[in-house]
Amino acid sequence: MASTHGAHRILVASNRGPVTYQVREDGSLDARRGGGGLVSGLSAIGPDAGALWVCSALGDGDREAVRRGVHEDGVRMLAVDAEVHADAYNGIANSVLWFVHHMLYQTPLEPVFDAGFRRRWESYRTYNRAFAEALAEEAAEGAAVLVQDYHLCLVPGMLRELRPDLRIGHFSHTPWAPEDYFRMLPDDIRAELLAGMLGADRVAFLTWRWATAFLRCAETADPGRWTGSWASGEPRAAGHLDGSGTTVRETRIGVHGLGADAEFLRERSHRADVGERMAALREEIGADRRTIVRVDRTELSKNIVRGLLAYRQLLDDHPEWRERVVHVAFAYPSRQDLAVYRDYTAEVQRLADEINSRYGTPGWTPVVLHVKDDFARSLAAYRLADVALVNPIRDGMNLVAKEVPVVSDEGCALVLSREAGAYEELGEDAITVNPYDVTGTARALHEALGMQPGERAERTKRLAAAATALPPAQWFLDQLRELES
Ligand code: G6P
Repeated sequence: MASTHGAHRILVASNRGPVTYQVREDGSLDARRGGGGLVSGLSAIGPDAGALWVCSALGDGDREAVRRGVHEDGVRMLAVDAEVHADAYNGIANSVLWFVHHMLYQTPLEPVFDAGFRRRWESYRTYNRAFAEALAEEAAEGAAVLVQDYHLCLVPGMLRELRPDLRIGHFSHTPWAPEDYFRMLPDDIRAELLAGMLGADRVAFLTWRWATAFLRCAETADPGRWTGSWASGEPRAAGHLDGSGTTVRETRIGVHGLGADAEFLRERSHRADVGERMAALREEIGADRRTIVRVDRTELSKNIVRGLLAYRQLLDDHPEWRERVVHVAFAYPSRQDLAVYRDYTAEVQRLADEINSRYGTPGWTPVVLHVKDDFARSLAAYRLADVALVNPIRDGMNLVAKEVPVVSDEGCALVLSREAGAYEELGEDAITVNPYDVTGTARALHEALGMQPGERAERTKRLAAAATALPPAQWFLDQLRELES
């Protein structure tokens, strides 16, 4: 057995990796590196740590790179059969698991767990098995493996069977569904999902709220199989029971609240390209106007439509803001293979147009909406925002809420959903809203627009301190240390 082991001491597994490839017109490959917590985390342990990131080939460029044997140091891309990947990623991860944890179903009609679902679930298994096998092949004896997110819930269990010597962690970047909602999943699927994750030595979440929900789901799913262990009301571990009810093994439960990367953001947001975009935005908005800024993926859970409805109500209830405020909404296209995401994006566009034609005047466009990815422009909007609107239906953490206060030039009032993970850390200095309450959100926007500059600056300072308390590198190293302890 030992002879078949790989050389890597630390492994990370996720659906989306740190690099994507595009085929240029001349046929060569263009590699683009992304950012995020895991990228910073892995760079913090340095190139000599022997780390490997196992991820999925997502587009045609990635598949072509795998075909040509092109790869970056420390990255292994898996080109799982395209149909299997589509079923696992679009059909299960993004259409079922994402919907369950974010409570997005319109329940009289959805979900329908039929034969098609079962077929896609089989692909999800195949997809997870491909990761488990690659990790088993690459990991050195006793290595630490950090598996990420809802795409790969079955990997820990599969990997433990293949390689019981490894230390396996699973981290969820999403919320976890409340028990009643989670019970929508067919019982056998629910048990398989939990057993997959509980194959890990440790499972971790972004907040205590999600960790608590997870342990409740585990202990009620099959009381003869798993038992919850709590310390002063906080989830500590899931015990694995044998036939006689004795705990034979424990999966520990942890929480790591990923923070914003202050150093990176402050440097990046003062580069020339951001300055140029600020000037252009100012021009578009009008010099003396206030701004309500939001930046999201065009994601159903982000609640962009109710944000626009609240803005419309603000203009109705407080006509004194007309001509004096602009809602700047940047929405980056996301998961456009799914019709429900495309429809949502179209609805955002339609509502923005409707508000502009109903309230707009020759010199004032009430909503400035851009549906295109441009990080420098987002940073420009963060810097000049008077109000940031972060109103998700549910969100694992929400980094926009944490990034804006760090980057803001003169202080920014934060309107924040109490259903975002970030609420646990930022709730005190934000104006908090129930994301479904459009009238309440309109009131919060009014309050935020009226906040005095001194108070705004003070709150922003405290928000920035809370938002950067656990920078990505620390977040990652803490998980590794906990797993290895
Ligand atoms: C969330 C998930 C990530 C995912 C990201 C973007 O943050 O937790 O795992 O990568 O959304 O979604 P996408 O489907 O484009 O990878």
